[in-house]
Amino acid sequence: MEKFPPILFLLLLLLLFFPLSWADLHDNFIKCLSSQSNQLSSIVYTPTNPSYTKILQFYIRNRRFNRTATPKPALIVTPLTETHVSAAVVCAKSAGIHLKIRSGGHDYDGISYVSDDPFVILDMFNLRSITIDPKTQTGWVQAGATLGELYYNIADISKTLGFPAGVCPTVGVGGHLSGGGYGNMLRKYGLSVDHVIDARIVDVTGRIMDRTAMGEDLFWAICGGGGASFGVVLAYKIRLVPVPEIVTVFRIEKTAPNATDIVHKWQFVADKIDNDLFIRVLIQPVTINKKRTIRATFISLFLGDADRLVKLMGNNFAELGLKKEDCMEMSWIESVLYWANFDNGTSVGALLDRNSNVNFLKRKSDYVQNPISKDGLEWIWKKMIELGKTGFVFNPYGGKMSEISPEATPFPHRAGNIYKIQYSVNWNDEGIEEDKNFISQIRRLYSYMTPFVSKSPRGAFLNYRDLDIGTTENGKNSYDEGKVYGVKYFMGNFDRLVKVKSKVDPENFFRNEQSIPPFPS
Ligand SMILES: Cc1cc2nc3c(=O)[nH]c(=O)nc-3n(C[C@H](O)[C@H](O)[C@H](O)COP(=O)(O)OP(=O)(O)OC[C@H]3O[C@@H](n4cnc5c(N)ncnc54)[C@H](O)[C@@H]3O)c2cc1C
Ligand SMILES: *[C@@H]1O[C@H](CO)[C@@H](O)[C@H](O)[C@H]1NC(C)=O
Ligand SMILES: *[C@@H]1O[C@H](CO)[C@@H](O)[C@H](O)[C@H]1NC(C)=O
Ligand SMILES: *[C@@H]1O[C@H](CO)[C@@H](O)[C@H](O)[C@H]1NC(C)=O
Repeated sequence: MEKFPPILFLLLLLLLFFPLSWADLHDNFIKCLSSQSNQLSSIVYTPTNPSYTKILQFYIRNRRFNRTATPKPALIVTPLTETHVSAAVVCAKSAGIHLKIRSGGHDYDGISYVSDDPFVILDMFNLRSITIDPKTQTGWVQAGATLGELYYNIADISKTLGFPAGVCPTVGVGGHLSGGGYGNMLRKYGLSVDHVIDARIVDVTGRIMDRTAMGEDLFWAICGGGGASFGVVLAYKIRLVPVPEIVTVFRIEKTAPNATDIVHKWQFVADKIDNDLFIRVLIQPVTINKKRTIRATFISLFLGDADRLVKLMGNNFAELGLKKEDCMEMSWIESVLYWANFDNGTSVGALLDRNSNVNFLKRKSDYVQNPISKDGLEWIWKKMIELGKTGFVFNPYGGKMSEISPEATPFPHRAGNIYKIQYSVNWNDEGIEEDKNFISQIRRLYSYMTPFVSKSPRGAFLNYRDLDIGTTENGKNSYDEGKVYGVKYFMGNFDRLVKVKSKVDPENFFRNEQSIPPFPS
């Protein structure tokens, strides 16, 4: 996205593609919207509006896309009602304007609010209501709600209900659930989308539909296939899951060389141990006593008490040396705060805070299907130390994940995967050179990992958006281009997603850099 000065790019596009000028499109869009809604002035922000920049920046969660040179939307539309969403879709379509849909803005490559061609952001943050029904243990969550708000609302009505979704409380429901969604109850309960039972969506004609009206194919697609290829998700209906009154967490750090044996063993244990236990490992190059080494941090959620956990670990993973003193018992909602790195004692209300500290960052993903040998791990550690900053997060699979068919949802990475790797690099330096350095570093680590991870296709997780694995040219979205990233994210489900896309949006109005293409007409 930094290849062209955005202004030149925009002019070029205007000359090439638009019979009307951009100003006309923009006027037509506004005219159309005002004919549909009398609240226009409170939901549309043009660049001259004093709040435009604040609204644009509030849901940017990656500083790489918070620069003067980052392409900006011609307008931001912030619907207050479902009908506003419908009007925005109808008007954008009739004016020929490209729409980007944003809920929580956590897309790692910024595709919910950045585009190389003229665009409008449909910003869903006002649509954030959550209703939980303790009797049926279900709830409706609007797309603009955050995970923190969802967890807060659940805990508000019950100490023994939870929901299996992501760890970061500011992540938006719209992108998270439509992209699969997982967190530290994945081994017990699977993905968020394994617990979605209904949805409301606006399709390309502006129709508002629930599961019955949209049909099972489209409902299937928006539960893991990414919402933005198919329509605007308004809300999901979810089934809550039981959690015990007391859960246990621990965090244990080990450094190399000791860390190597333990991480090696972890690969044989973490996906097979009791489903109540999730042990994530963070692998990070660090400096200790002026020596560069590797640190492995084991962070865990156990759906049970400390005594049972210590016994379980003693029998299955004694190498980690977990003792009762390492364990902290707490309620499930306190474990949510713990995992989100809040200080001990932080009130649950902190989950409602939408502000967050934002870095420059880049992420990538992989799946490991065969344990990596000790020699392999040592070689990887060496490379990580040479590169400098990029770390890994290993997330164990197995349990419920292995029981669900890879076709049940668009998310295909089920049985056969021991763990998922997230590659992670964050930095704080403004310069564009820094971007280049750190992005090339994470790409090199990804290339070093080739022999150790899944192949043909090399799997990737949609919610860990990575434009490196393939993109489609805007407005073109050919099947062949889409297939490059599509099979990595969706494997055998890609063609079914293309089929749904061809049926519900054959003209490809809902598109982005990695959307599902329709079949060529
Ligand atoms: C700090 C951080 C922590 C994370 N932790 C986890 C984690 O623990 N588990 C996990 O699974 N993922 C995690 N993620 C990834 C996260 O799930 C994805 O980035 C997710 O897509 C974010 O949703 P969003 O609504 O915030 O993002 P957005 O950037 O708003 O949207 C992401 C994508 O979804 C589309 N979209 C958004 N809303 C809608 C809608 N209403 N209708 C249709 N399409 C829509 C966008 O157009 C875009 O393509 C994390 C990300 C960050 C930045
Ligand atoms: C974006 O930059 C502005 C300054 O232009 C700053 O105030 C804001 O906090 C930044 N936001 C993010 C998410 O980086
Ligand atoms: C490695 O393990 C040994 C034996 O348990 C221990 O004595 C030593 O302190 C450990 N080293 C580090 C760096 O943790
Ligand atoms: C939180 O801190 C209090 C007081 O320092 C302590 O008693 C309690 O055990 C701590 N809880 C956890 C989960 O660490």
